[in-house]
Amino acid sequence: MSARNIRILKGSPVYQSFFLIKLHSKISNKSICDMKKSSETKTVVGDVDSDVLSFTVGKDPVLDLKLVEWDCLGSAAHVTMLSRMKVEPPIFTSEERDAIVKELANIAEVARAGKFVITEADQDCHLAIERTLTEKLGDLGRRIHTGRSRNDQVSTALRLYMRDQLLGAMEEMMVLARALNRFAKKHEMLPMVGRTHFQPAMPSTVGVWSSCYAEALLDDIFLMWAAYDFADSCPLGSAASYGVPLPIDRILTSKLLGFREPVHNVMYAGNSRGKTESVAVSALCQVMLSLSRLAEDLVIFSAPEFGYFKIPREFCTGSSIMPQKYNPDVCELIRAKSARLIGMSAGIASLIKAMAGGYNRDLQDSKEMLMESFDASRKSLRIMARLIDGLKPVPDKLRAAFSPEVFATDRALELVAGGMPFRDAYHQVRDNLDELKAVDPDDAAAAKTHLGATAGLDLAMLREAVNMELKDIKAARSGLSKSYKKLMDPLA
Ligand code: ARG
Repeated sequence: MSARNIRILKGSPVYQSFFLIKLHSKISNKSICDMKKSSETKTVVGDVDSDVLSFTVGKDPVLDLKLVEWDCLGSAAHVTMLSRMKVEPPIFTSEERDAIVKELANIAEVARAGKFVITEADQDCHLAIERTLTEKLGDLGRRIHTGRSRNDQVSTALRLYMRDQLLGAMEEMMVLARALNRFAKKHEMLPMVGRTHFQPAMPSTVGVWSSCYAEALLDDIFLMWAAYDFADSCPLGSAASYGVPLPIDRILTSKLLGFREPVHNVMYAGNSRGKTESVAVSALCQVMLSLSRLAEDLVIFSAPEFGYFKIPREFCTGSSIMPQKYNPDVCELIRAKSARLIGMSAGIASLIKAMAGGYNRDLQDSKEMLMESFDASRKSLRIMARLIDGLKPVPDKLRAAFSPEVFATDRALELVAGGMPFRDAYHQVRDNLDELKAVDPDDAAAAKTHLGATAGLDLAMLREAVNMELKDIKAARSGLSKSYKKLMDPLA
């Protein structure tokens, strides 16, 4: 008897007796008991119904493994600040501070080795770290949460994680841009039909095609730096979103963690969680849109009907039935990942758009989207850079695509050079298309000498721009690692 049938039976005289039978026979049924009351689990912050715990914890025990080392840094800054706070008795002496930081460094190392464990009863990395500290250092562990909340703690850890991931992604973007510039340089004047509406349009080159995507990445990196700057202020000390009645030094913790400044308003510090993620994922989404268009071009232009490029064999996969197939799966999946990024960008924005001010648990669900966004885009950037390194143009196919129509505009402009008004030249060519003569595409490419065109590409400038970005990324990285070293290892 299905639940639906029971409802149909409801109201009929048989129903009541049926219900009684069911009640008696199934009273000990586990699922009914489960619905009434499940067991409780002991956690650091009290006993919680096991089903509720499992539902609310979600994937945190797994996802938070990526945050452990960042939370250790945040906690080290917090403890250091508390040890310098002018209260009597002090919350931590400097020796106690050193003992805690040493243990935090230890936990971070265990986590990096993939050996740190977060249980469901821990709920997340924050309470797992507090439990571990308490197991190792007793009372010191129990004091560490003084003057903070998991809300500012997780926001801080996430910003540290985002800064690191953004720098990593930016570096990978520039490695890809460099590969595209190199490809452009190598085949700078190799003719390639330029298209609009996907129809053959004007003579162009492989140099223009390839460095177009390099320049796109150089533009996208502005958004990535904006996301980096957005993440580069410190929410620590905002606690639950409303501060604490203790003389904490938020400027000190911000400095210790290498942030530009603290987020000033405590409630905004709370509210900026989710928004910071949204900004980062939007920037990544733009990167993936660039990558997806490149991937799409490669799928089309490597198909036998075009055959302009050969994707290296090792980047293609076969078919289980068709022996002849070498499919451009890498490019297709990059297209798919960009679709996911659009989804995740919209997902995080939807999550925060109508949230009440202050912390809301909804925010926890942005974590998976954030992490997957970094993971998917960074993997795509890395594999695409390798693919471009192995990409081969097929000059015969590229040249064979030049039908006389491709030179129609060039011909009209030739007539203009002879003194004819452009619109008259346009009509003359349009009315006599079948008289158009094939031009040597190399000559056509050489004729466009103005800025950014086939013979006016400043590839050295693009290469230099990439190098400068890489330098900035390196400088930001070394600034951060100096701060982290100083915080975790005072002797360094
Ligand atoms: N794991 C939680 C999150 O990601 C940590 C913060 C929990 N805060 C709270 N008030 N329940 O949001």
